[in-house]
Amino acid sequence: MLGRKIIKLERVDSTNNYIANLLYDDKIENGTVILADEQTNGKGQRGAVWLSKPAENMIFSIYLSSANLSVKDQFVLTQFISVSVVKTLKKIGLKAVIKWPNDVLINHKKIAGILIENQLTGSSISGSIVGIGLNVNQIDFGELQATSLKLETGNHFSIQEFVFSLLNEINFYWKYIENFEYKTLKDLYLEKLWLLNQRAGFKDENGDFEGIIRGVEENGLLQMERNGEIVFYDLKEIRFQQKYH
Ligand code: BTN
Repeated sequence: MLGRKIIKLERVDSTNNYIANLLYDDKIENGTVILADEQTNGKGQRGAVWLSKPAENMIFSIYLSSANLSVKDQFVLTQFISVSVVKTLKKIGLKAVIKWPNDVLINHKKIAGILIENQLTGSSISGSIVGIGLNVNQIDFGELQATSLKLETGNHFSIQEFVFSLLNEINFYWKYIENFEYKTLKDLYLEKLWLLNQRAGFKDENGDFEGIIRGVEENGLLQMERNGEIVFYDLKEIRFQQKYH
């Protein structure tokens, strides 16, 4: 069972880094979870920082080492974990969507971010550090287009209970990975993908354009229909025009 061992820290640079250090010392088993009240160097995607008020939100990392995934299938982990987060939110009555590749939004505002760091051995993934930051009780995000469980529901939530509920979903969807049922995870991901099959505004290096997201490749590239043709985008190559307003 994933999450059998949970280590709770008050303060750490980054829960993902904490796992990386345990790995370096060979002191971590599959499914170990690290939680923290506060990160001094929380890491976001693409080198960004992840800011989170102390003890108000979920700061969660889990180590996964038994997925038997090959490097070409690494996007399956993104699908698995984002679907698990969306399902956990659904259990408390919140309708969330996934903004490609793995931001979780409610009412166009970001409630959770995911950072997956893989260790590769040849062409296979020998281990993955999966970090999730999810806004729970924080109500002030300054300029950021962000939201939290409290802002969406008006209620205060126990971070610990949310973690247990998330671990239930993670264990549930993990079976699909263990059984190599990647197609099911992809379908579940597409069901929740924001703007799928809807005409919308985007921006790439050549400027603004209108297109329709048609899906994702096995390697995670975004499939975008433009002028009747499918073109592929990698993470840094495209922006969504529609703001999370
Ligand atoms: C993003 O940019 O959206 C990804 C944010 C990921 C934040 C989480 S919080 C727990 C884990 N530890 C980190 O340093 N980052 C991730």
